[in-house]
Amino acid sequence: MTDDLPLDIASVDQVLSTARSVRRKLDFDRPVEPEVLFDCINVSTQAPTGLGGENWRFMVVTDPARKTQIADVYRSVLADLQRARGLEIKSTQRSLADRLHEIPALIFVCAIGEPPADEVAGQVAFYGSILPSAWSLMLALRARSLGATWTTLLSSRQEDVSRILEVPDGVTQTVMLPVAYTKGAKMRRAERLDAREVTFWNAWGNQKHPG
Ligand SMILES: Cc1cc2nc3c(=O)[nH]c(=O)nc-3n(C[C@H](O)[C@H](O)[C@H](O)COP(=O)(O)O)c2cc1C
Repeated sequence: MTDDLPLDIASVDQVLSTARSVRRKLDFDRPVEPEVLFDCINVSTQAPTGLGGENWRFMVVTDPARKTQIADVYRSVLADLQRARGLEIKSTQRSLADRLHEIPALIFVCAIGEPPADEVAGQVAFYGSILPSAWSLMLALRARSLGATWTTLLSSRQEDVSRILEVPDGVTQTVMLPVAYTKGAKMRRAERLDAREVTFWNAWGNQKHPG
């Protein structure tokens, strides 16, 4: 791959703008080829790295028994959130939880190391060195008609997940992407505020372009 190909901006922007969560319109029966996942991971590791260097590790879970255990933990976090915090669970979120064990590949984006407990700059650097690769992974999947959802629910039960996946101490789990080929999913742009409303020039709150 060369780095100086003329870019097809429309396609690039389409991928960037339509990497929606896909929780239901997924092909649960079609396996995801390891080579395709390797290609996506090779894209994702082009993300910026912090001082920790390439401390990312991608745990791809395809084993039915382990997926079942992970899905059980996921559902129990969801139930806790509902019970303890009275959080309303959307039907799409419920659908994903109900069928999580059937998703062909669950990808945990992990970082070797742990964020410092009381130092904001260190925490920003820690997560800033891993989450860009996770988002690039989601985009690379999207470009190949693979659907995923950005999930962090399981990070509250890192120890349980570590036990199931034999993750050693000192490794931080960040997002988990449940990945499958999409089936009839409509990948549209989301409703978002316009750039002019969220962009300030030179001083906080100043929306007037200086030029
Ligand atoms: C930090 C973060 C954590 C999230 N965790 C979960 C999750 O654990 N499970 C889930 O179903 N959705 C989760 N979501 C929500 C979806 O990934 C998604 O962003 C949301 O449903 C909006 O849909 P869209 O991607 O189509 O815009 C999370 C989103 C963010 C930003």
